[in-house]
Amino acid sequence: MAAVRVQSIAMGGIEAIPSQFIRANHERPALNAPSAKIPLIDMSKLDASPDLLQQTVAEIGSAAQEWGIFQVVNHGVSEDLIRRLQAVGKEFFDLPQEEKETYANNAEEGNLEGYGTKLAHNIEGKLGWTDYYFHLLWPPSRQNFNTWPRRPSSYREVCEEYGREIMGVVDKLLSALSINLGLQECSLKEAIGGENMEMEMKINYYPPCPQPELALGVVPHTDMSALTLLVSNQVPGLQVHKDSNWVAVDYVPNAIIVHIGDTLQILSNGKYKNVFHRSVVSKDKVRMSWPVFCIPPGNKVLAPMKELLDDHSPALFAAKTFADYRRCKINKVDK
Ligand code: OGA
Ligand code: NI
Repeated sequence: MAAVRVQSIAMGGIEAIPSQFIRANHERPALNAPSAKIPLIDMSKLDASPDLLQQTVAEIGSAAQEWGIFQVVNHGVSEDLIRRLQAVGKEFFDLPQEEKETYANNAEEGNLEGYGTKLAHNIEGKLGWTDYYFHLLWPPSRQNFNTWPRRPSSYREVCEEYGREIMGVVDKLLSALSINLGLQECSLKEAIGGENMEMEMKINYYPPCPQPELALGVVPHTDMSALTLLVSNQVPGLQVHKDSNWVAVDYVPNAIIVHIGDTLQILSNGKYKNVFHRSVVSKDKVRMSWPVFCIPPGNKVLAPMKELLDDHSPALFAAKTFADYRRCKINKVDK
């Protein structure tokens, strides 16, 4: 059965959303949630004097511990490249529906790459107000261009350039996060596979929603990644759970939002927090976001870093390969 796309439903000019999108009362979002001043880090200070480097490492470390999310500026990815990434993503979603369907994925069969819409797990299951595109971005040896959009024709080139640039930002952040734990600079990168670390690109497309107060974009979750680096268009919508409240993340032009995911929570033995987050949608604007998930290869064993363990700090997480971790989380089982 062909999936029904949220974009097509939204284009139908409806005034009320179909019942599968209406969340239970307790899940409905406050669209005027107070905005959160999540930590804002100036990454250029990592290349400055030793004092500034030390201060910035501490800022990144406490943001990862207290919030599990922060924004970075002066990250080295040019404004122009982010603008081009956004333009090619938008151009893809603006293609005729039949053309987008030629890239349809088959999530039910475990084939997530391509164009998709999340399916409900059961008949009462609720849906998020979003379609997406998903493909592996890195390492080059594993890129499968058959699963990437061929239109616009510059998609591939722009996305490859973005992948290379974002890798530089990831490396710097992982170094700072390692130093902050008292580890060797390269420790966390190595723990997630070093050169074999993978990056996945997702484009979230949230069409305008006639009843945004009843719906959610993506439902509350933590990412499984080590880090997720996200840019969005100028429409706000990301919310994070902090001290028992949902707070909205402010849109900061040209900033990249960095999420700590489950993988870093495990490696740091719980010191870094995997941020619980969700997205809300807008009544009259399209929201788009581009998260890049940095993950270990599936066969990499994930366990708390042994340098962080002693008699007083036992391991809080069992060792598992990343593939097993993912399977257990998706299927909600322990083993
Ligand atoms: C995600 C996600 C948030 C957003 O895709 O994992 O959390 O702002 N997206 O779109
Ligand atoms: Ni997420």
